[in-house]
Amino acid sequence: MAPVMLDANENSLGSVGPGDFSRYPDPHQRAIKADLAKLKGVSADNIFLGNGSDEAIDLLVRLTCTPGQDRIVVCPPTYGMYEVAANLNDVRVERLPLTPDFQLPADAAERLAQSTAKLVFLCSPNNPTGNLLAPAAIETILRSFKGLVVVDEAYADFAEAPSWTTRLAEFPRLVVLQTFSKAWGLAGLRLGVAYAAPALIAYLNKIKPPYNISAATQQLALAALADASQLPEMQAELLRGRAMLAQQLPTLPIVEHVFPSDANFLLVRFNVDATHVYDQLRARGIVVRNRTSQPGCAGCLRLTVGTAAENARLLQALTGIGAEQTIEKAAN
Ligand SMILES: Cc1ncc(COP(=O)(O)O)c(C=O)c1O
Repeated sequence: MAPVMLDANENSLGSVGPGDFSRYPDPHQRAIKADLAKLKGVSADNIFLGNGSDEAIDLLVRLTCTPGQDRIVVCPPTYGMYEVAANLNDVRVERLPLTPDFQLPADAAERLAQSTAKLVFLCSPNNPTGNLLAPAAIETILRSFKGLVVVDEAYADFAEAPSWTTRLAEFPRLVVLQTFSKAWGLAGLRLGVAYAAPALIAYLNKIKPPYNISAATQQLALAALADASQLPEMQAELLRGRAMLAQQLPTLPIVEHVFPSDANFLLVRFNVDATHVYDQLRARGIVVRNRTSQPGCAGCLRLTVGTAAENARLLQALTGIGAEQTIEKAAN
């Protein structure tokens, strides 16, 4: 006989609305972890699941840093949430800027060896620049830095490089972040993953809200894992779109440079006012990300690869904006 569950003040009659969500979800998310462990070749106790990888970023800062006292390191230009999480937790931010070609500086490991920061975030492929960080540089940091080394692989499904999850056994202070928001196309579900040594995962599990992954998210993520046949097709199509844009964008007169990308977006430098290009794209119903104020990204917009039709519309709009600029220049 099924047990009578009268312990959690749920509604035994069922749910209002479609579906039955009357019971609290599994706080340990065992089913998803079992499937992910198989898929990634790790053990279930190497896996932490967060309400997006943004939750894992916040919890990692809170786990390692004492507010008002400790610091984290970020390598700008990079993903903004690392700094947001630090600010929210009253944790100071040390900056180790990337080189002009968006790699870690040659003395990064040396500088980090001197640092008393508790955590460094290395984003590879990096957002907003799109490139992978050289693995040798990450490895020397893993050997020299005394804090946690978080390698954020949100965009790894678009890159050729092997995941750092394959090196977990070697580096007890390594944390690898991945997400279902990008290649898996499940940004709305909010499901992110941190892979690390079991001892570290156990700490994350202790400080997380008990039911941080909803039953709806768990069900839908499990269904995606059970039939992931669309994943390689979508990856391939997005990579074709990226290659097409990387080829076509440099032919536009207003484009100065398209940075090489291992992600599902391209960082593009314009030889005209990039904020004007951004505004003009918006006026044509196309929303991209303005990165002009990020260090090393002057004149740059970040363009996400879309569907074939969206990519074509983007190119057409940029061509139109370029033509207008030429007419304006001629008139002045
Ligand atoms: C580098 C990087 N890490 C993490 C995230 C957040 O992902 P999630 O949707 O899993 O919170 C993003 C989202 O844009 C990202 O670019």
